[in-house]
Parts: sequence; C-alpha cells; structure tokens
Amino acid sequence: MAAGAVEVAAFDRARAYKEWEVDGKYFGDGREVALLEYIYGHPNLEQLRGNPAKLLQAIDTFAQSVTGLINIGETKGAIVCDVIAQHKPAVVLELGGYIGYSAILFGNALKQAGGKSYFSVEKSPLFAAVATSLIDLAGLRDTVRVVVGTGAEGVQRLYDEGLLTSQIGMAFFDHHKPSYTADLKLCERLGLIGGGTILVADNMILPGNPPYAEWVRASVADKRNMDKTDEHRGNPNLQYRSRFVKSFEPSGQEDALEITECLGIEA
Ligand SMILES: C[S@@+](CC[C@H](N)C(=O)[O-])C[C@H]1O[C@@H](n2cnc3c(N)ncnc32)[C@H](O)[C@@H]1O
Repeated sequence: MAAGAVEVAAFDRARAYKEWEVDGKYFGDGREVALLEYIYGHPNLEQLRGNPAKLLQAIDTFAQSVTGLINIGETKGAIVCDVIAQHKPAVVLELGGYIGYSAILFGNALKQAGGKSYFSVEKSPLFAAVATSLIDLAGLRDTVRVVVGTGAEGVQRLYDEGLLTSQIGMAFFDHHKPSYTADLKLCERLGLIGGGTILVADNMILPGNPPYAEWVRASVADKRNMDKTDEHRGNPNLQYRSRFVKSFEPSGQEDALEITECLGIEA
C-alpha cells in the first residue's frame, strides 16, 4: 500500500451498480433521461421530495437494477462526506457534476456541516439539466448551483461573476481526467486555494492520474521547477500534504481518491 494509504471496508456486492458499458457506451446513451423519468415516475415520489438520502437511494436502485451510472456511489461518497463533516468547508467547488449524485450527497453534507454554497460545473448541458432537476427535487436549490461549461470555463465564469473570488474550503475533481492538473492550477492562480483548503480527486486508480498525483505530492521546491516549463501555471508555493485512499467504484471495481490538504504558502 502507498504511504498514507487507507484501506476501507470491503465492498457490499449486493449493492453493486450494473455494468456501465452498454453497447460500447458508458453514458450519454439516453440513460440519464431514463433516470429522470424513473425518478419522477417513482411510486414514492413524494417521499423523495426534500429528502436527499431517499432520493440518492432511488438513484442507486436505478443504477443497480436498470443501467449503471458513472456516479461516485455510496462507498467513495461516504469517505468524502466524512471529510466534509471533519473540515466543514463553507464553499465547495465540484468539477464534473454528471446527473447530480455527488452534488446532492456532498451538497447535503455541506449544508449539515453549516456550509453555504456548493458549485457544480458540468460540461454537458443535458446532464446539467438532469442534475438541476434532481437537486431541486432533493430540496437543495438554496445550497447547490449547477454551472454549464468545462471546468476551466466554469471556474473562470464563477470568478468573473464574483461568486468565487477568495479561498474555498474544498474542491472536488471528477471530470475530464487530463484536465485535473490544469484546472487545479487555474484555481491556484485565481487565489481559490489556501491554507486549509481540501482537494479531493476521484478515479486515482480507474484510470489513474499520474500528472495530478505528481503535482499534489511534490515539494514546493520541486513544484517551482515543474511549473516553469508547464503551459498551465499554478501557484507552486502552496504546500500540500496528500494521501491516497483506496476504495471502490459503485460497480465494485477497486479505485482510490487522492485527498490533499493545503497547509499554506511556503516562503
Ligand atoms: C464521472 S462523471 C461525474 C460524476 C459525479 N461527480 C458524481 O459522482 O455524481 C464525469 C462528468 O464530467 C463531465 N465532464 C467531462 N469533461 C468535462 C470538463 N472538461 N469539464 C467539466 N465537466 C466535464 C462529464 O460530462 C461527466 O458528466
């Protein structure tokens, strides 16, 4: 096991999602709209309204019995909820919202911990529309806001509109894997990361993200050298302490999160 790694409890196979792949597609083949219809046609719809936990259970049931969904799922989700309960971020930025599962789970955890705002950036306008509808159904409209665009576009727009202008409590990276490092560096450049900010990156095994892992695990001295030659400039002076946390995809495949704490600026 890598230094700092934590092995979590075994995966509950009875709750596994169905295979994601259907006819060579993993998402975007109509399953997200089918989910929306399933939820709004649910016999207990009124019990899901305003109840994030019950709504998430219904989404899990769809993914266990109809079609797999590329959500973070219960097992990795519980690890991130613990991080939110422990660090109590006021503002969370998520890149890669999909149908809103993590935004509902973590937005609710943020609200319970006394936090204020959860921004979820999603490239696909269709997925963003599904997410917005489900977030509204969960009763989290006052806390969670969906922004349509790539990670970089969303972060820059939130900054330009004055919605994200100072240090945030947590950033969650779950979008285009090669964009994690560049988008983190954009957040660093804009002053959104500082002492106490927590970074959570998903899919560190499936498929893995060596450039991101290298950046958040490097010393300030090494980052100063690395940043000079990178077209995406960050703030190499931010000191990070990072750990690799093993867990499972909702399908039961092994995966890991990288959980990084910013310790502040090294002079
Ligand atoms: C794994 S899913 C996110 C799952 C979600 N966080 C959850 O756990 O419920 C990845 C999402 O990132 C979106 N995406 C892909 N490239 C993106 C980019 N450059 N910027 C923002 N979102 C992107 C995809 O459309 C997809 O919805």
